[in-house]
Amino acid sequence: MNDLESRLSKMNLEILSMEEIGGAHAGNIYKVEALSENVNTREHYIYKEFAEGRDQEVEIHKNIEEIMTSFSRVVNVWETSPKAMLMWDLGYPVKSGFEALPIAEKKILISDILKVLASLHGMDTAQDKLPVHQLNTKWKDWCLDQLGKLSSRKSWSSPEWEITIQEVYERLDIPHYQTKCPSVITHGDPHLENVFYKDNEIWLIDWEWAAIGSPLRDVTIFMQDIYDDDLISYVPEYYLQCMRDRGIPLDNDDFRSDLSYLYIDHLTMMLAWEVEKYFQGHLTEKRIRGIIEWKIGEIERVRKELEKKGLNEWI
Ligand SMILES: Nc1ncnc2c1ncn2[C@@H]1O[C@H](COP(=O)(O)OP(=O)(O)O)[C@@H](O)[C@H]1O
Ligand SMILES: [Mg+2]
Repeated sequence: MNDLESRLSKMNLEILSMEEIGGAHAGNIYKVEALSENVNTREHYIYKEFAEGRDQEVEIHKNIEEIMTSFSRVVNVWETSPKAMLMWDLGYPVKSGFEALPIAEKKILISDILKVLASLHGMDTAQDKLPVHQLNTKWKDWCLDQLGKLSSRKSWSSPEWEITIQEVYERLDIPHYQTKCPSVITHGDPHLENVFYKDNEIWLIDWEWAAIGSPLRDVTIFMQDIYDDDLISYVPEYYLQCMRDRGIPLDNDDFRSDLSYLYIDHLTMMLAWEVEKYFQGHLTEKRIRGIIEWKIGEIERVRKELEKKGLNEWI
């Protein structure tokens, strides 16, 4: 009997079928259909077995179990090797159908997701239970590395992309930026592949990077997955309103400053990740080129805005 079978059998669950979910993941992820011997029903689960050194989510779960439980649907966690987690199957991530939605529906979904993020950010901060998020050179370094690999392999790759990244990090000294908004619990990775809509509710999975940090950390990771100018302007305004509604008003200057710096860092982080997905065969050449052009364009736009407003004094 393998680990999964024996683990589920102890929960009175008999595996009927299982299938590995392909993709670039931090471990092995399986869709499992099981028969519950207690109630004699077929149930659908996701079993996530962590790769060595990528099991931080287990520790996070131990530390903020109550919070995680109210935003995701974890059923069981195994802290012994192989570390793993069993969740209810939430269907497909928001990312899978998002681009095809009409703009009005995108806006409703965005609003619902921002409400959930604001609600997470309003939770009591277990300061000592989570790491503290701090900007650094990691995403810049990774992105430059990925763009370097891309340019050695593909003639359509532009050297301007690397220059843009280099310059923005240097000029704004992004790795040393200290966030200004009050620290909250952040999920740390709420891009649209980690957000689900099921049973009329929004769910967040993949808590590996949860940390104490500026609320704009989550807002900008979410925002970099939206490829539409109007919706991008809508995100921060609506989020601010959600926080005001919760009685957590944020200082306007602090908010705009964190928004700009963290947005640039997360556009860079996800640019590197999208290139990785392309290398692994999960994105077409047309798509990755579109993504890179868009993200580089956004980085340049935000940089120009900051320079125009003369906000460099904030550094
Ligand atoms: N509870 C779930 N319900 C449905 N699909 C899931 C669930 N958990 C994970 N998945 C699928 O597996 C993918 C990767 O899972 P995730 O926990 O985000 O791991 P990673 O750290 O590799 O990103 C998700 O983007 C989603 O497609
Ligand atoms: Mg994920």
